[in-house]
Amino acid sequence: MPNRNKPCSLIVDAESAHTEVLHALLEKRGLNPIVCNNLADARDLLETRSRSIAVAFITLDLDDGEGLELLGGSTPFYEDTEIALMHDVDDPVRARRGIAHQASYFFCKPLDEKFVGELLEDIKQEWTAESEEVGEKLNCAVDQFGLMRGNSSPMRKLYRVVRKVAATEATVLLVGESGTGKELAAQTLHQMSGLDGPFVAMNCGAISAELAESELFGHEKGSFSGADKQHAGYFERAEGGTLLLDEIGEMSMDLQVKLLRVLETRKFRRVGGTKDISMNVRFVSATNRDPETAIHDGLLREDLYFRIAQFVLKMPPLRNRGSDIQGLAQYMLNELNEVNDTAKYFSEESLSALVSYPWPGNVRELKSAIERAYIMADQQLEREHFPDGQIDLVEAGDYLRVSVGASLEHTEKKQIMATLASFDGDKKAAADSLGISLKTLYNRLNEYEAP
Ligand SMILES: Nc1ncnc2c1ncn2[C@@H]1O[C@H](COP(=O)(O)OP(=O)(O)OP(=O)(O)O)[C@@H](O)[C@H]1O
Ligand SMILES: [Mg+2]
Repeated sequence: MPNRNKPCSLIVDAESAHTEVLHALLEKRGLNPIVCNNLADARDLLETRSRSIAVAFITLDLDDGEGLELLGGSTPFYEDTEIALMHDVDDPVRARRGIAHQASYFFCKPLDEKFVGELLEDIKQEWTAESEEVGEKLNCAVDQFGLMRGNSSPMRKLYRVVRKVAATEATVLLVGESGTGKELAAQTLHQMSGLDGPFVAMNCGAISAELAESELFGHEKGSFSGADKQHAGYFERAEGGTLLLDEIGEMSMDLQVKLLRVLETRKFRRVGGTKDISMNVRFVSATNRDPETAIHDGLLREDLYFRIAQFVLKMPPLRNRGSDIQGLAQYMLNELNEVNDTAKYFSEESLSALVSYPWPGNVRELKSAIERAYIMADQQLEREHFPDGQIDLVEAGDYLRVSVGASLEHTEKKQIMATLASFDGDKKAAADSLGISLKTLYNRLNEYEAP
């Protein structure tokens, strides 16, 4: 574990007039800046130092390639590193590509020193505060932020962004696999925003294309057969509050055009209505598809994406959340005990074994596994109370038990997932320990994620 009390920072830029200013800002905050003039030097540095880099400023165009090449599918950056992209002029397309990966900010040069200074102050504080908590990682207590639970570093990072974004009017797109807590995050955003109105969720995938328009906009009496009274749509019901557009990639293209217009004008008209109604609603959208792919496949309009995704929040999959798996499991069991007035508990073996399973259904799957095991167990929740395959290969502690005859593929997957979990989701550290390249690890994880 690196010494996170001594964070450093990275500037990837060859323009000396610019790097000097940034260097001074970083130095002033004790963030030990390192300057790399090209991608090759940056890559070399990341090989050895990635875990101690608190923040990186990367310019888009360098002599040996594009700054974005440092991000992408197999980013060598540590997941806690805050990344800011920079360019001489606005470049929304490349900014979006970066933000779809690990970048959080895009700045035009010259940087606004006041804003960047405040940001650095925040990063410095968070980075040093977290280093004090590292030793406590493996106890099973879970922090709660709004409605979300978990204290792994990906979750803490998410909490920080949610806290900052909640107070603004920015639209937010939550991207994450099924069961990662997108709806819970949207509710938390609403809670933290201080808005007085209600939280309303519309599942775009669950409403037929014909009805979706009247569900969203409402309708006037008699506007179509069956419309026997006036109906308030989701926009009206969410007035003064937050509207979650869930599974936004499932919305018909027609309706996406209409929604875009509403987002631009902040006005809408009921189906069959003649007057515009102004609205004051905060929009949050969610999807379990990768937005870039959804745009490419013609499922999501690019112009709508720009409107709904001023901030993209990525929900970490449970398998990347290290000790959160056990923390959440324990928390869920405590809740069941409380409701039913029981005192059931995990065997040490079953609790430690849970981390080796990749949990493709994420927190939802964990919850149903715990509920099932709770019902099956008289007192102690044992391995046999969990469905086959979920925790079958792991013994207590740091060992895997491999059934003779199990396929190599299955065994390799268990080994990889358990190692990753033991490094708290740190892919670089896990790959090093497994003796494989980071790229190979990413390839495997992608294969496991494939449906
Ligand atoms: N961080 C968390 N802490 C506590 N419970 C959680 C957390 N994340 C998810 N859950 C629980 O897991 C279940 C699934 O969460 P949620 O519905 O928010 O996921 P989702 O990402 O919207 O899933 P889907 O894509 O399938 O709609 C819910 O019961 C929720 O309460
Ligand atoms: Mg959902």
